[in-house]
Amino acid sequence: MSKVKVVFWSGSGNTQAMADAVAAGINAAGGEAEVTTFDALSVADAAKDSVIAFGCPAMGAEVLEETVVEPFMAEYEGFASGKKIALFGSYGWGDGQWMRDWQDRLSGAGATIIGGEGVICNSAPDADAVASLEDLGRQLAQA
Ligand SMILES: Cc1cc2nc3c(=O)[nH]c(=O)nc-3n(C[C@H](O)[C@H](O)[C@H](O)COP(=O)(O)O)c2cc1C
Repeated sequence: MSKVKVVFWSGSGNTQAMADAVAAGINAAGGEAEVTTFDALSVADAAKDSVIAFGCPAMGAEVLEETVVEPFMAEYEGFASGKKIALFGSYGWGDGQWMRDWQDRLSGAGATIIGGEGVICNSAPDADAVASLEDLGRQLAQA
């Protein structure tokens, strides 16, 4: 059974709901999801896993959350080569630029983005978004 960490930051619960859907997909596919937050995990522990999921909403002006997630990811990039990474997050009014930038940073650091791109949704995940996130979870369990 493959254990997969689903690491998220969420200010108002939307990305947390996305994390729960990813975890449901992992568990449904026979994996074991371990849902945790960025501030409860060290970069060193995250870097031990070859397959991992990260979730963060669009914050600031199309950037990652700046006090916890941005410094975490800046450090994690040094360990990202060869990892298989799923990305997800909620947004409000933008066009997903924060997610494209996040993907590009990790791809540039040598990681493979599972599904080819991050899963984004406007505000809370609707039924279509939940289905996409559960599918992402299945891909994580099989990666
Ligand atoms: C301080 C702040 C900055 C934000 N900046 C953006 C942004 O640049 N682009 C965007 O599309 N949404 C932006 N949003 C909207 C959030 O991404 C959106 O409300 C999202 O659903 C929050 O997810 P969460 O519930 O997981 O915190 C911002 C929200 C806050 C509170």
